[in-house]
Amino acid sequence: MKKYKIAIIKGDGIGPEIVDETIKVLDSVSTKHGFSLSYKEYLLGGEAYDVYGDPAPEETLEGVKNTDAVLFGAIGGEKWDTLPRDKRPETGLLKLRKALGVYANLRPVTVYDELINASTLKPNVIKGVDLLVVRELIGGIYFGEPRALEEDRAYNTMVYSRDEIKRIAKKAFEIAKQRRGKVTSVDKANVLEVSQLWREVVEEVAKDYSDVTLEHMYVDNAAMQIIRDPKQFDVILTSNIFGDILSDEASMLSGSIGLLPSASIGDRYGLYEPIHGSAPDIAGQGIANPIATIASAAMMLRYQLKEEKAANCIENAIKKVLKDGYRTKDISSFDAKEIVTTYEMGSLIAQYVSKE
Ligand code: IPM
Ligand code: MG
Repeated sequence: MKKYKIAIIKGDGIGPEIVDETIKVLDSVSTKHGFSLSYKEYLLGGEAYDVYGDPAPEETLEGVKNTDAVLFGAIGGEKWDTLPRDKRPETGLLKLRKALGVYANLRPVTVYDELINASTLKPNVIKGVDLLVVRELIGGIYFGEPRALEEDRAYNTMVYSRDEIKRIAKKAFEIAKQRRGKVTSVDKANVLEVSQLWREVVEEVAKDYSDVTLEHMYVDNAAMQIIRDPKQFDVILTSNIFGDILSDEASMLSGSIGLLPSASIGDRYGLYEPIHGSAPDIAGQGIANPIATIASAAMMLRYQLKEEKAANCIENAIKKVLKDGYRTKDISSFDAKEIVTTYEMGSLIAQYVSKE
């Protein structure tokens, strides 16, 4: 029997609740598909700061490298908001991504037919949307030097090397080949030099993929087009900060940010996390939606552990649970048969998995 070691980082806010439900589903799917998972917990973010005085303890950064994949909940909260940047929970997450070398962040946006009315957009605009944001994750303005907060001014640097652009562009084209064969590269080349280089390198990479169509779009226009006509997109290739912003925007196509998973991959390690944050305002109330994290676990099975059938099984179970009208609070005003807690949603998906 295949055995996989999974690093678990629950994090702050709703992190522990949504990860616990995900583990339930993983246990169910592994039993069903004949492999075994063992879990080891690591601290990161605010909780790690409280224990170690460091949001990204060495023990975590090194420890997770001895596992097959990392499943992550969420980090951050008001309690840590006034700390200097290097102590903030967010810095912990950025250090983890960097340590794992996970340069490609894949954020699929699919609209569940069952939740078509959950979106603030009209059904005819979003029905059939199936796009993937490929966000560069360990470079750009998030990491650029020099950076400083001085008394009367502050600055950051948006920097990309040719190699960094090349590897993320390749990833986007490879994925587009398996999908509908279109890459929209999003930049701000009319203003930023870093985007000019981005465009040049993406053009070069495109030459190796004659079966994929490439178009360029300025980020301001892309922000508008995602709302105007999201179906025009297949793969959106973009930098760290533009991808951060556009993926939150795109999540609203699906009705709730609580639905969207992500996979962060590199040459070796993989980190799987929902795209939403730690939502401290609703933590501990049992109303958080665990679906984004559960769907991230499905991506982990597919991309990291190559357990494609198990991944499909989880995704089908999510669809069926929604189809049968079970809703957490965030999506409860739309065709709900029964409003369920975080815990109940996890149990339902785990049950449906075993029945798949
Ligand atoms: C995300 C989050 C993070 C990011 C924060 C928490 C550092 O917004 O994963 O999108 O900006 O990458
Ligand atoms: Mg974000």
